[in-house]
Amino acid sequence: MNEKIREYISEEQLQKRIAEIADEINRDYEGKKVLLVCLLKGGIFFMCDLAKKLKIPTNLDFIIASSYGNGLESSGEIAIKKDLDETIMGRDVIVVEDIVDSGRTLSHVMKMLEERQPASLKLCALLDKPDRRVADDFAIDYCGFTVPDVFIVGYGLDYAQRYRNLPYVGVLEFD
Ligand code: IMP
Ligand code: MG
Repeated sequence: MNEKIREYISEEQLQKRIAEIADEINRDYEGKKVLLVCLLKGGIFFMCDLAKKLKIPTNLDFIIASSYGNGLESSGEIAIKKDLDETIMGRDVIVVEDIVDSGRTLSHVMKMLEERQPASLKLCALLDKPDRRVADDFAIDYCGFTVPDVFIVGYGLDYAQRYRNLPYVGVLEFD
């Protein structure tokens, strides 16, 4: 079987949408400071491009959450492999994620962060794949694009750790 990548969201479309989201965040957080919490590794490209477009004071921190498994499917169990460096109590926090798929990762991470009593906690996801949702006890406050149930690679998203560095979002196909 040969792997093939079909371009799905172009670099231009990504940057345009990210600029729109940044404008929204700039408006919503006017006069405040924000802490962006990136879920590594997938969220890194999105966080960088988004952060560069924010005009409010912005800090960055990182979490590595893993759901065991390296293929097309993730298992249900979430482990925190790297936690935040910063304390979030009383701060305005936005979690930045590449894609919400089953929702298990975000369900776990949002609960964990909420317990630390931030002043506010929102979620910004580049992609939403609602057809696959299993856990939905959280809201996506800022969403880039809704995608169907296909396997996405590029712009942070991987297949067995490959393709993260593509500047566009593609669909992985086999022939
Ligand atoms: P969850 O199923 O919502 O917990 O998503 C867990 C993680 O699986 C996401 O943060 C992504 O890193 C990864 N993931 C989910 N769907 C895709 C996909 O279509 N392509 C690549 N990675 C994905
Ligand atoms: Mg991820």
